[in-house]
Amino acid sequence: MKCPNTIPYRGNISREKREILLNQKSMVLWLTGLSGSGKSTIAHAVEERLHAMGRLTYVFDGDNVRQGLCSDLSFSPEGRAENLRRISEMVKLFLDAGLICLTAFISPLRDDRERCRKLIDCGRFFEIYVKCPLEVCEERDVKGLYKLARQGKIKNYTGVSAPYEEPITPDFVLETDKFSIEECVEKVVRFIQNKNSFLLNSRTTGKD
Ligand code: ADX
Repeated sequence: MKCPNTIPYRGNISREKREILLNQKSMVLWLTGLSGSGKSTIAHAVEERLHAMGRLTYVFDGDNVRQGLCSDLSFSPEGRAENLRRISEMVKLFLDAGLICLTAFISPLRDDRERCRKLIDCGRFFEIYVKCPLEVCEERDVKGLYKLARQGKIKNYTGVSAPYEEPITPDFVLETDKFSIEECVEKVVRFIQNKNSFLLNSRTTGKD
């Protein structure tokens, strides 16, 4: 929905110019997976690695965003859809600012994730499935929420009383029950480096 009677202002400083200043290409790595699968841990560890390499990054994290921007939203299907819509709009702005973004949201429904991809619509949206069996996530139960969900004290809990739809064609899969966090982080960092050099090179050949 567009706000009526508004006309977007286009400044002279474009995303391209900001990217040249930063010597990087903006992109978003959309991590999806069950609560406790390792999304936040991996996203923040990747950010640390990139920061040390001189990359400007930002992590959007479900638990954090729901303390502020999305604190009014529930975990109903409508609440989750609106949560992800707002995040996608934020990510869009950060991509325009030239940043490398990582998101850590359960984003359980395929249609919702597809809507996010379309809304961001930049050819630089990469879906990463942080895959881990429910039993393992539940065993970890870092926040103690699975236990409460099993006791019926939390409604609509993903994996317990609300669905999680696995991605069909993710850009890649991280199996956190089979590989260490360090190995998963290494894979994501390498992926970003490859994509970034490809995009930086295609800029010089005018293909971007
Ligand atoms: S999403 O489904 O809308 O993408 P989001 O990633 O923002 O979810 O938030 C997930 C986090 O909220 C979980 O890691 C957990 O800590 C907390 N949470 C609280 N209630 C629920 C619930 N009913 N289902 C899933 N996660 C919940």
